[in-house]
Amino acid sequence: MSQAEIGLIGLGVMGSNLALNIAEKGNKIAVFNRTVDATRRFYAEAGALKDQIVPCETIQEFVAAIRPPRPIIIMIKAGDPVDQQMEALKPHLAKGDIMIDAGNANFRDTMRRFDALKDSGLTFIGMGVSGGEEGARHGPSIMVGGTEESYRRVEKVLTSIAAKYDSDPCVAWLGENGAGHFVKTIHNGIEYADMQMIAEIYGILRDGLKMSAQEIGEVFGAWNKGRLNSYLIEITEKVLKAADPLTGNPIVDMILDKAGQKGTGKWSVIEAQNMGVPATAIEAAVAARSISSAKGEREAAEKILGLPPVGEIRVTDRDAFIKDLENALLAAKVGAYAQGFAVMSAASNEFGWNLPMPTIAKIWRAGCIIRSQFLDEITTAFTKAPDAARSDRHARLRGHGQGDRRGLAPGGFDGCPRRSSGTGACLGARLLRQLPPRPRHCKRHPGAARLLRRPWLRPHRRRRQPSWAVGQRLERLSSHASGGAAGPSLLRHVQASHGV
Ligand code: 6PG
Repeated sequence: MSQAEIGLIGLGVMGSNLALNIAEKGNKIAVFNRTVDATRRFYAEAGALKDQIVPCETIQEFVAAIRPPRPIIIMIKAGDPVDQQMEALKPHLAKGDIMIDAGNANFRDTMRRFDALKDSGLTFIGMGVSGGEEGARHGPSIMVGGTEESYRRVEKVLTSIAAKYDSDPCVAWLGENGAGHFVKTIHNGIEYADMQMIAEIYGILRDGLKMSAQEIGEVFGAWNKGRLNSYLIEITEKVLKAADPLTGNPIVDMILDKAGQKGTGKWSVIEAQNMGVPATAIEAAVAARSISSAKGEREAAEKILGLPPVGEIRVTDRDAFIKDLENALLAAKVGAYAQGFAVMSAASNEFGWNLPMPTIAKIWRAGCIIRSQFLDEITTAFTKAPDAARSDRHARLRGHGQGDRRGLAPGGFDGCPRRSSGTGACLGARLLRQLPPRPRHCKRHPGAARLLRRPWLRPHRRRRQPSWAVGQRLERLSSHASGGAAGPSLLRHVQASHGV
């Protein structure tokens, strides 16, 4: 029997699906799990793909089944279990073999593991895999960090299983050691920001316009046909239209307003802070999750302070108001992505990775959780001016000119300091060219909570209500609606409402 092209350890949900994807694309794969039962079950359920799978019950058998130099994907819980698994594997491996951690690892652990293997003849790849269970099974976005040589050994298999945007595979080697896991971390940070912004818009529509979950679902459905077209907007429509089978109520109303987090969003913020790069949209989203998880404290505070007053927003033209929100969400997205790319740009310098920004945008266009039409626009923006992704000076110059014209802070957007420069700022400026200019009388306001208060995004027509007032009410509503999710604005509001 011919040897397997690759091996995989860890037949949990992600590992099983990734293994089936690899087998389905015509690659022979050896699989191993700590508990033999899981391996047997996986193989028994593999159906027509059994021919491509070598189920192994011992590490020795597993290693022997793979063609050297052996690439071995480790798809288990991030953290200590990965170190333990690597230690268990090491004595069985030979020079040139590659251990690939495909979990959501902290890139600092990845760098440590990479260094630890340096003189052993073995090598290590840190591989970010995005797309959840579905993506793992049918095509994830794959972000690879390690030596380029080790990537070449697995490139064919990874290209075959990755999601495709048109015919472009969403996989790339992004740099040495921790580069892949760092990019995956920032992907997740942006994912947090995207989700938080969607939650705040939902809250505004629910509490401000008193719309039902079904109606709000319609709004997101319509937005998904426009420039906001993306996986997260698409599933927001589905979630909002879904009913709880037990009560018949909208499922969104039956879910506890308490969200956890596994760590990637927090790491994005920590690294941004370490490098002095503002990532306010991600920071606010991480803080929002923490506030949401402190449900006990929120309930206790509510008993003392009451809920922030939530008023209905009376609008003369509801459709125009919803259009404003769509534009605001797009602008906020530009800010969040610009910040994410700025963090990656700084990390690229800090860790000497030379991260290929256009490639990152490209491989995020399909397969991953933040996949969107918008990322194709970012790819185009980067591709048209590749220097903008590499040269701070160029980015500063372009950002400056366009920022002045469009009322953006040159070298930054949404709280980025004027002189921070970098890819993100330039990108934000370029993407925002298509939005209406800010009138001269509107002042700039820093901070993530400002994302929804953009008077200059209103359509060019007279409104009865001053846009500033709408903006302030939006901010108040957004903090209330997401269960106090917009942290800083919630606190400000509680203070203002209660004179403390
Ligand atoms: C992905 C997702 C996936 C998951 C994260 C975040 O890219 O497939 O990002 O990795 O959503 O683990 O989980 P938390 O939101 O629980 O931190």
